[in-house]
Amino acid sequence: MLNKKTLKDLDVKNKRVLVRVDFNVPINDGEVGDDTRIQAALPTIMYLLKQDAKVILCSHLGRPKGEAQSEFSLAPVAVHLASVIGMPVKFATDCLGEPAQAATSSLKVGEILLLENTRFHAGEKKNDPAMAKELASLADLFVNDAFGTAHRAHASNAGVSKELPSAAGFLLEKELKYLGDTIANAEKPFIAILGGAKVSDKIGVITNLLEKTDKILIGGGMANTFFKAQGYDMADSLVEADAIETARQLIEKARDALVLPVDVVIADDFADQAQSKVVPVGDVPAGWRILDIGPATVVAYASIIKKSKTVVWNGPMGVFEFPNFAKGTFGVAEAVAEADVVSVIGGGDSVAAIKEANLDEKVSHISTGGGASLEMLEGKILPGVDALEDK
Ligand code: 3PG
Repeated sequence: MLNKKTLKDLDVKNKRVLVRVDFNVPINDGEVGDDTRIQAALPTIMYLLKQDAKVILCSHLGRPKGEAQSEFSLAPVAVHLASVIGMPVKFATDCLGEPAQAATSSLKVGEILLLENTRFHAGEKKNDPAMAKELASLADLFVNDAFGTAHRAHASNAGVSKELPSAAGFLLEKELKYLGDTIANAEKPFIAILGGAKVSDKIGVITNLLEKTDKILIGGGMANTFFKAQGYDMADSLVEADAIETARQLIEKARDALVLPVDVVIADDFADQAQSKVVPVGDVPAGWRILDIGPATVVAYASIIKKSKTVVWNGPMGVFEFPNFAKGTFGVAEAVAEADVVSVIGGGDSVAAIKEANLDEKVSHISTGGGASLEMLEGKILPGVDALEDK
């Protein structure tokens, strides 16, 4: 259980509550694209309004270089949030200095203010105590609801937590419940499905999950590096040369807990319209490359998923951006959605796949974190969580 204070432990009535959210959302032509992260922050925001608090939201957006850059402004997010909740959202053109002071001191109970991008100041990423103190001076209480940023120790999350009475918001609490408690106390059989291009990105996750899961099903480009480590010819497939030895050691350590594809979909070019065919793993001809797991693998993985009680999935099974090489990823998504399991989906691409397949309502939890959910799966304590006040 989370040993941190949570939102309901704070008396927020008539208080200025600074809420760190992760509104790092795609902006296309000045408009918010996928607003999942904004929707996910609503329970905390609505609760604070209902409890007669003054709500001050702050977030980063993108990776500006410590100075104001208009393409990274949160102004479109304020407009979008206002339309989602059907009430005005005030906006301060700077998260520090006079604009922030003026906007927060005139804020009334039941009003919402969004501060401009915290990364417009170099102190944010340096976790500069002076910036944390200045942010803290705008409020009476601090709530961290930015799970997606919790793996960063920055001024607007870890820093400010030390300056004000602090607590975890509802989204952060929910993410920690699924990515922490559910995985730590998973009902067995517990399996992980790991995909994505690189083994090197997932070594920490595999090592940690080998201790906890019954099986890890591997797919995506990273499977190729495991095949190479087993001595198969991968022809033109993506292989991470630097990670072959690590892959070999992981296979040895895992024994039969690590499950690799039995067949693959190969292509004569890296393109959706390339010529393609299904072959056994050892039969990739010269000039061809693996772009997806094959149908026999989908059947085998689905049968393992069906027999399990807990599933965690991170990373696609193939190049699912190409419709012709998306069957493996969507097949696995369907198997997870249909199975009677507790299912936790983390990481941008597998989340995108589940949503594209319209299966998001059928899984237990979809994480709003990319890097943060990976670090949770590695078993790490996230600095943004660690800095919060203990219960
Ligand atoms: C994310 O999108 O993963 C978070 O918002 C963190 O962003 P960052 O990787 O730029 O720190």
